[in-house]
Amino acid sequence: MARIAVFGAGYVGLVTGACFAELGHIVCVRDVVDEKIEKLNAGQMPIYEPGLEDLLVRNRARIRFTLDAAEAVDGADFLFVCVGTPSTYSGDADLSAVWTVLAELPVDTRVVLVMKSTVPVGTGERVRVALEARGLDDVAYVSNPEFLAEGTAVRDVMHPDRVVVGAFRPEDADRVAALYAPLETTIVRTDVASAEMVKLASNAFLTTRISFINEIANVCELVGADVVDVARGIGLDHRLGPHFLRAGVGWGGSCFGKDVSALKQLAGNSGYHFQLLSAVIEVNDLQKRRVVGKLEKRLGKLRDKRIALLGLAFKPGTDDLRDAPSLVLASRLLAEGAEVRAWDPVADARDLLHGVAFCETVLEAVEGADGAVIVTEWPELSGLASPEVREAMRYPLIVDGRNLLDPAQARAAGFVYEGIGRPSPPSGAPAPAPDRSVELAG
Ligand SMILES: NC(=O)c1ccc[n+]([C@@H]2O[C@H](COP(=O)([O-])OP(=O)(O)OC[C@H]3O[C@@H](n4cnc5c(N)ncnc54)[C@H](O)[C@@H]3O)[C@@H](O)[C@H]2O)c1
Repeated sequence: MARIAVFGAGYVGLVTGACFAELGHIVCVRDVVDEKIEKLNAGQMPIYEPGLEDLLVRNRARIRFTLDAAEAVDGADFLFVCVGTPSTYSGDADLSAVWTVLAELPVDTRVVLVMKSTVPVGTGERVRVALEARGLDDVAYVSNPEFLAEGTAVRDVMHPDRVVVGAFRPEDADRVAALYAPLETTIVRTDVASAEMVKLASNAFLTTRISFINEIANVCELVGADVVDVARGIGLDHRLGPHFLRAGVGWGGSCFGKDVSALKQLAGNSGYHFQLLSAVIEVNDLQKRRVVGKLEKRLGKLRDKRIALLGLAFKPGTDDLRDAPSLVLASRLLAEGAEVRAWDPVADARDLLHGVAFCETVLEAVEGADGAVIVTEWPELSGLASPEVREAMRYPLIVDGRNLLDPAQARAAGFVYEGIGRPSPPSGAPAPAPDRSVELAG
């Protein structure tokens, strides 16, 4: 049993802390936001992450929360740094929260400092120099990047594909690797710089796959192919695999944008122009806007048209709105003069999107709408092509930004259906009459 301090009570810190408590360790999670710590101490959740609350309740005896840095590291064997590392205006990673953590460590701290936050290559070396400068000779450093995905974070941490441990000294790597011994996984041991690069390169590769399939989708639209079938045909190749080949409205979220940008900047700062990543980012920027063109194809000018945005979180299973395509889309639609009504089962965008009407139910959002856009593939939307929705809409247009629905079924139910990278009838075709036999069959 180890004593573990976790700095940062966000998606990574809370899940990391809860999972180490589940593995039998004594955990103290520290954050700087009073409200978060108050909520956690009151047994409330500051974020939405499936399975996390159960884990925290079950391990209440082994996990506590504090605002006090000294209290958190007092007697700790490990300090997991899980603070945010957002983008600066230049596209580099903002490491100010990481430097604050170092500045807050009491002089007599004796821990293995484990970096879980995503940081540029070279950060570990800079931290080592900073620790030396502060005389923190009993603080060892290990890079242990996190690969969890929001929505499945608890499962991802308890059943990781791999755990990457990069250290300056083998004995420090041994201590961190031992924490993961109960998990059935491969431990990849590297130097610190390589561990840092594994994380950035993984996210860059995932976004590259998505931008790749989105470009294939855009060509499919021009030549009459269906990207869903194409992706299936590609993904069954064992050399390629099926993951991250789903065409849609583009990638977003708290990590992809900032990490891809940080890698591109890191390369640029080191004298290398990372052309591929520039294209990956540009393709994604354009992809988020393509939905507007699809709406215009059917509705003409969008001024005063009522558009329902269904799903706001950057993906299902989370309330995280950071860099969500929905934000770009809503802003574009408002700029075109459309009336935007939005629905999401958990994400609250009231502070981010002004001029949007937020609705409690899907039916309320599509009421009188000229078009409904599936932005996030929440399971609740799989039954969108229903008689009630068709009845409620002024014009029965569904733009399926995640290829969630079956086009044939949606059309048979009387909707004008536009997917991403899927064949669609030319504009100007009248809305199909609902096939009553389909309706009666339920
Ligand atoms: N969210 C993900 O899916 C994910 C996945 C893998 C890696 N990461 C990386 O993990 C890091 C954290 O991401 P997140 O999504 O959990 O961020 P987050 O914004 O949800 O949480 C970060 C927390 O750190 C707190 N904090 C800031 N300064 C602090 C300090 N000095 N001491 C203690 N707490 C402090 C903030 O108040 C916040 O609660 C980032 O580097 C991110 O790139 C995130």
